[in-house]
Amino acid sequence: MKVFVEKDYTSLSKKGAKIIEEVVRNKPDCVLGLATGSTPLGIYEELIRLHRLGGGIGLDFSKVTTFNLDEYCGLKKTDPQSYHFYMWENFFRHVNLKPENTFIPNANSEDASQECVRYEEAIEVRGGLDLQLLGLGRNGHIGFNEPDEHFVLDTHVVELSADTIKANSRFFSSEAQVPRYAMTMGIGSIMGAKKILLVVSGEGKEEVVRKILQERVVTPRIPASILHLHPDVTMLLDYKIASALGGLDLCE
Ligand code: F6R
Repeated sequence: MKVFVEKDYTSLSKKGAKIIEEVVRNKPDCVLGLATGSTPLGIYEELIRLHRLGGGIGLDFSKVTTFNLDEYCGLKKTDPQSYHFYMWENFFRHVNLKPENTFIPNANSEDASQECVRYEEAIEVRGGLDLQLLGLGRNGHIGFNEPDEHFVLDTHVVELSADTIKANSRFFSSEAQVPRYAMTMGIGSIMGAKKILLVVSGEGKEEVVRKILQERVVTPRIPASILHLHPDVTMLLDYKIASALGGLDLCE
């Protein structure tokens, strides 16, 4: 795992977008795995800026396919808290991605297990993920793979942990409004990506980052710890978190 400590949220977002830009420029028909939450907002903003660059150098998404990590169960696509809404609002509608090339799990499917299989197959048919963008939950989750006794490999429905419900309640009018279940890509789906970009910013993540980087134990109790076993992971870490750990230097 390569770790870069970035001085602030802006530089972290610019660096994250640059890594994604490189993948898109090298392979215009690449397949990107995308995330939601607070962390990637700056990356999407920067990608939109790169897309809008004039003089024929704007970043072209016309051949790109995207697969989102997860979606809440029980929210309509039009619900402002749904990840469908988030993606259209914060990224898709601002760039030239073709709607038919954007995939988000249908967490309201009548047959959830079939939808999970269909999602895995759709990723495979498109040739697998060239890059997976990840945020990190305070409890170490990636996607909605919550701390557990074992890793779940494929796309599945998960019961959200109390910690995640609490953390995500900031987007809802109250904690009671946060859906209790979500559909998420599994650990195997994520680990199948050729390249992984883990971006870490936000409150209350110091302890989990310390465990991942300093204890270096791979355990389903800290789902992101599995990333130690992937050959190409870049972690971008906000200086605020890194400085709380000590021993990690600022990178250019
Ligand atoms: C979002 C997702 C989650 C978030 C994580 C961090 O699609 O899969 O794993 O990346 O909860 O969220 P933020 O960035 O809001 O701190």
